[in-house]
Amino acid sequence: MIAFDKAPSLCRAYSRDFWIGAAVNPWMLQDAEYRALILRHFSSVTLENDMKPERLLDRKATLAGGDPLRAQMNFTLADRVLSFAAEYGLKVRFHVLCWHNQTPRWFFAENWSDAPDAPLASRETILSRQENYIRDVMTHVNQRWADTVYAWDVVNEAFEPDQNEPGLYRARSLWYQTLGPDFIPAAFRAARRYQAPGQQLYYNDYNAFQPEKRDAILAALKTLKAKSLIDGMGMQGHMNLDWPDFALCEEAIRRYAGLGLSVQVTELDIHCPGADAERQAALADRYGAYFAMLLRLHREGLPIGSVTFWGVTDRDSWLTGFRREGSYPLLFDGEKHTKPAFDAVLAQPDKALLKD
Ligand code: G3I
Repeated sequence: MIAFDKAPSLCRAYSRDFWIGAAVNPWMLQDAEYRALILRHFSSVTLENDMKPERLLDRKATLAGGDPLRAQMNFTLADRVLSFAAEYGLKVRFHVLCWHNQTPRWFFAENWSDAPDAPLASRETILSRQENYIRDVMTHVNQRWADTVYAWDVVNEAFEPDQNEPGLYRARSLWYQTLGPDFIPAAFRAARRYQAPGQQLYYNDYNAFQPEKRDAILAALKTLKAKSLIDGMGMQGHMNLDWPDFALCEEAIRRYAGLGLSVQVTELDIHCPGADAERQAALADRYGAYFAMLLRLHREGLPIGSVTFWGVTDRDSWLTGFRREGSYPLLFDGEKHTKPAFDAVLAQPDKALLKD
């Protein structure tokens, strides 16, 4: 356990393999230690919340704009992180354009109404709002930061075959309720129009290794890929100490890559319910085995482009914050010291070299 600034750089250790990312929040950039930790150990960042529709959309400005088809946005926080990333040469994964969660209901309602029971707008209206939203966000970002953003999560968490939903799709999603399954190709068509050269378009989901869910996703991505609308699959990677079996992850990565897609691990964390030495050693073993698997696949030629941790330290992880779980799931502790899990991940590229 040493201070983050005494430890070898994690992203440098992986520089011949893939980018190593972290989910960050704008307040971290105001904190000299967080800034230094991020710049030393990560080559990519994702905004944990501040590029989501609920954070970008500005209802007051939208009402003032008077256009029933075009929402207005406020990019202040997102821009701050993009500027920082560009200045220091960090790459950015944009998360997320279309998601049922953290998108306010008023975006889908007639006249932008925020009444809880307001009728939903027509299909044509939502299609136009979707296109305009994607155009305005991507155009804004790409005006200044086209070279900084390398991947866009275009659609997130659209499939839920195992959660009492009537079909494969997450039926409670307002995207699904207003547009049906078409919301996915429509989103990707719009994103293709406004992406910058070199940027990749992703579908992103959790538990994307579960065979039933994986197969539902694969079927949809195959159709998108046949129309050249998608470039990659984002496998979130929220895991536990004893779940899932990494053989299932490996099989899923092979199947997604088999469609001709790049694969990124986009939200990695391994829930660990204790900070004690025994459980942290188990966490280290598990992280080590996971990265060994990713490196083996990558060196075999599978297009794994980046692996992003969902948070920077145990103290800022959503598992301790949002879920209030008492979890110690990441590579740095609350004091920003490296944990055994850090050492285990850091060691894997050299171990893989010995096997080459
Ligand atoms: O910032 C407000 C604060 O002002 C307010 O007082 C407080 C009261 O609840 O809420 C704060 O916002 C919370 C935000 O996290 C920042 O902490 C939101 O309520 C809370 O909903 C939000 O949770 C986020 C969650 O997505 C919501 O769906 C987590 O931070 C974020 O880590 C999590 O990320 C998702 C990915 O986007 C998609 N995949 C799953 C992943 C984990 O759930």
